[in-house]
Amino acid sequence: MRAVDIIIKKRDKEQLSKAEIQYFIDGYSQGAIPDYQAAALAMAILLNGMTAAETTHLTLAMANSGDVLDLSGVVPIAVDKHSTGGVGDKTTLVVGPIVAACGLPVGKMSGRGLGFSGGTLDKLESIPGFRANLTTEEFLRQLKEIGIVVTGQSADLAPADGKLYALRDVTGTVQSIPLIASSVMSKKIASGAQAILLDVKVGNGAFMENLDDARKLAHLMVEIGKLAGRKTVALISNMNQPLGAAVGNALELKEAIETLQGGGPADFVEHCLVVASNMLVLGGILPNEDSGRKRAEEAMHNGQGLEYFRKMVQAQGGDVQYIDNPEQLPGAHLIEQVKAPHEGFIHGIHARIVGETVVMLGGGREKKGDVIDYGVGVLVHKKIGDWVEAEENIFTIYANDKEKLRLAHRLLLNALTWANEKVDPLPALFYGKIM
Ligand code: URA
Repeated sequence: MRAVDIIIKKRDKEQLSKAEIQYFIDGYSQGAIPDYQAAALAMAILLNGMTAAETTHLTLAMANSGDVLDLSGVVPIAVDKHSTGGVGDKTTLVVGPIVAACGLPVGKMSGRGLGFSGGTLDKLESIPGFRANLTTEEFLRQLKEIGIVVTGQSADLAPADGKLYALRDVTGTVQSIPLIASSVMSKKIASGAQAILLDVKVGNGAFMENLDDARKLAHLMVEIGKLAGRKTVALISNMNQPLGAAVGNALELKEAIETLQGGGPADFVEHCLVVASNMLVLGGILPNEDSGRKRAEEAMHNGQGLEYFRKMVQAQGGDVQYIDNPEQLPGAHLIEQVKAPHEGFIHGIHARIVGETVVMLGGGREKKGDVIDYGVGVLVHKKIGDWVEAEENIFTIYANDKEKLRLAHRLLLNALTWANEKVDPLPALFYGKIM
């Protein structure tokens, strides 16, 4: 077999066999197939798609590129959660510790930023010392001892996805249903949790912009999860404006800590409670969403969730004094308000433009291996449907470069659309559940 023939086959809209997919993924993860050929195949898949069978083969080949953990001997049941990516989506930082505090172990493999969408690992790494590259042994030990672990791909766990994910981030090949489904599910299968809650985002700040595509992605991932013998449920949630207020690594971490202290923006708190309650039901800890929500609310308000967050950070080498003093997390020396140019109702806050602005400020990667500036970002002070007076603050920009600050100001004004008449807030935070 030759990699180039596999690329040509997909370029010509043919279906790849299990053996061809396996050959390509093995070659790529072992370094025999170079990045440029993997980028070409990713683009061909993005343009020409894959069948459900091809996607399942790709998922399993990536999951099997490293260890596939079996957690049954470590904890009675572990739950995992994964978002398909959004803007301001710091949900894992809150629901992971809350669910663990409720007695359900959380073993999770997360990703880094991808295109305009932030990544949980980058957010956690804004805590000095935090390690996201645990070995399999460390992952298992921490899950058993503490009940919560969030790691990234390593040489041990789904390394093929780690490589491909970083490549897709910088080659315009993120927005593909088979590539997203296989990327998410290979991580979930490799990290071994028996129950998986997927949060499929839809809207202008998500990789799926319409509900039909989001449903297709959700069904495909649930199907793959079941084939792999995991209890899998997908929620479909709205991403037509940033979630919460903070977008940017350290800013989002601070907002997550605030939420674990019982504060936080209303939409984000609600989102976390729905996700956490579904995880608790899926993991069999509580019988229904109402009881799950009640228990999650308690853990959010009585400090138990925060305690689990602290334990996790400490176990993974992070300096916990930053949790007590989040103002000491990496910051920005240029802070500027973006004020409303006139009065009116906010009709839209284009989440993708906000995400791209944060990447441009240095909060994400434009090339593979780019170093992240954890301190930059944007606070979004308004929501769709809000009335705003002229000169009122709509955004706060955190920048470390004057030129980028000026550009961010312009981009953010362009992210807004206005109405003279009353605009309804977004109709729903969640559009449904697929099981
Ligand atoms: N999250 C992932 O892990 N992979 C994707 O491709 C998109 C979101």
